[in-house]
Amino acid sequence: MKEKSHKILVWDLPVRLFHWSLALSFAIAYLSSESERWQLIHITSGYVLAALIVFRVIWGFVGSRYARFAEFVRGPGAIKDYLLGLLRLRPLHYTGHNPAGAVAVLALLSLGLLTAASGWATFIEFGGDVLEELHEGAASIMLAVVGIHVAAVLLTSLLHHENLVASMIHGFKKGSANLAIPRPYWSVALALLALIGGTIFLAVR
Ligand code: HEM
Repeated sequence: MKEKSHKILVWDLPVRLFHWSLALSFAIAYLSSESERWQLIHITSGYVLAALIVFRVIWGFVGSRYARFAEFVRGPGAIKDYLLGLLRLRPLHYTGHNPAGAVAVLALLSLGLLTAASGWATFIEFGGDVLEELHEGAASIMLAVVGIHVAAVLLTSLLHHENLVASMIHGFKKGSANLAIPRPYWSVALALLALIGGTIFLAVR
């Protein structure tokens, strides 16, 4: 109890901005995919999604503690233990991403890149029907993984009595003070905003 008594900063600002921008760009790209009339919106949101993921991959190597892949990507043993705990409705608690959540994170980043790259290839008429089908297939699998991701976030929030969705908004969780990240990284978040704005500008001009 004592160990969890502090409100500590876990998610830096770039991770939070990345997350909600990714969710929004994916939703816009998905919903605008059906009609030719919305092609510019579809393509622009696809470029933003790709730029966000490239940023996140770099931030996964040089970012703050819980943003780093080295902190949350764990081996099959840890994933199995976590899932067994989940089945018993007593999952182990992690300050950052849990081992199973990390698999979903990696899947979403990879599927996002694959979807964007195959979409771009289709747009420049490279690769023909095969890449077009790959684009549609990857987007559908991504939607399914998003569904699993959101369900898992809600389930683990309930089991840990911890609002993970709110944490992804304000960045704080309960934990011991020595586990906090030291600052929110405003300057990197502003650079990410500029990247999003620049990508939109280049796509629509
Ligand atoms: C209403 C919809 C969504 C909610 C409520 C939500 C919630 C969350 C939460 C709470 C986390 C942190 C999980 C943890 O504590 O370990 C997270 C992480 C993540 N989510 Fe979502 N999510 C949503 C939609 C999406 C969508 C649509 C995508 C992808 C297109 C997505 C991709 C990710 C990724 C990549 C991470 C890892 C963040 C990082 O480390 O940078 N999420 N999400």
